[in-house]
Amino acid sequence: MGLLRRQLGPFFLATAILTVGCNRHIDKLTSQAGHQTWFQKIQSDVLNRSCVGCHKGPSAKAGVQLDTYDHVRFGTLKDGTTPLITPGDCDNSGLALILRMNFMPPPDLNKPLDVASKKMIENWIDAGADKDALAPGTEVPTPPTPVEPPKPPVSENDSRATYKFLAEKVFKDCRFCHSGPDAQNGLDFTDYNSLIASKKIVKGVPTESPLYQRLLQGGDDPMPPDGQLSPDTLKLIHNWILSGAKDN
Ligand code: HEC
Ligand code: HEC
Repeated sequence: MGLLRRQLGPFFLATAILTVGCNRHIDKLTSQAGHQTWFQKIQSDVLNRSCVGCHKGPSAKAGVQLDTYDHVRFGTLKDGTTPLITPGDCDNSGLALILRMNFMPPPDLNKPLDVASKKMIENWIDAGADKDALAPGTEVPTPPTPVEPPKPPVSENDSRATYKFLAEKVFKDCRFCHSGPDAQNGLDFTDYNSLIASKKIVKGVPTESPLYQRLLQGGDDPMPPDGQLSPDTLKLIHNWILSGAKDN
C-alpha cells in the first residue's frame, strides 16, 4: 500500500481502511474456444463502458490505458510503479484499490461503479488475472462424445467375411506365436498360402476346421491366450470358411 498511499493521499487512505479485504482462493476455469473469457466480460461490462473513453491511447488520462489485456495486466498507476494488477492479490492492485475507493470513474462526472462490477474485477485479480480464465459459473459445455456408429450384426453374407479383412483385423495379432518355421502347432498366419498349407481349415466346413474349433473353446484355455475372440469375429471366421476360405 505504501506507494498507493503516497499517491492518493490521506482521504483515500481513510476510505481504504474502512473497506473489506479481497477474496482469496477463487477457483480458476480455463477458457475454451468460443467462450467469452472473464477478462473479456470485464472489458465489455466495465472497462469499455465506464473507463476506456478516458483511458485509451496516447492521451489516456494519467497515462493509464485500459483498452487491452496487456495494458491492464502490466500497467501502473500514474506514479509509473504501482502495478494496476498484482495477480492473486487485489489488496496490492492499484486498479482494485482505485475502484474500491470510488476514485474512478471521476465521481463528479459519473455514477460510481456498481458493487458487482468492482467485485468481478477483484475476484478476477484474486484468481490470478489470467487472460484466458473463465468467469465462475460460466457454463462450459462438455464436448460431444463421439458416437460409435452401431456395428451391424454379422449376417450370413457379411461382406467382411473375407481373408483380407480377417488378416488385417484378427490374424495379424496371432503371428507372434503362429508364423514361420516355428509356428505354434504348425499354424502359420504369415499369409494366405501358409495358412491354407497349415491344414487347419477344411474349406466349406467350419465345424471340421481345427482353426474354428479351437477358437470356439473359451473357458480357462481360450485361443488366443489373452481371451476368446468376440462372437462377431468368430462368426466372420465361420462364414469365411463356410464360403470356401477363399483368398478374397
Ligand atoms: C471522464 C474521464 C474518466 C473516466 C470515465 C475514467 N477515468 Fe480514470 N482517470 C481520469 C483522470 C482525469 C485521471 C487522473 C486523475 C489524477 O491525476 O488525479 C484518471 C486516473 C486514473 C487512474 C490512475 C490513478 C492514479 O492515481 O495513478 C486509474 C487507475 C484510473 N483512472 C482508472 C479508471 C478506471 C478503472 C475507470 C473506469 C471504471 C476510469 N478510470 C474512468 C479520468 C477518467
Ligand atoms: C502368445 C502365443 C499365442 C498367440 C498370440 C496365439 N496363439 Fe494360438 N496357440 C498358441 C499355443 C501355445 C497353442 C497350442 C496350445 C493350445 O492349443 O492351446 C496354440 C494353438 C492354436 C490353435 C490350435 C491349432 C491346432 O493345432 O489345432 C489355433 C487354431 C490357434 N492357436 C489360433 C490362434 C489365433 C487365431 C490366434 C490369434 C487371434 C492365436 N492363436 C494367437 C499360442 C498362441
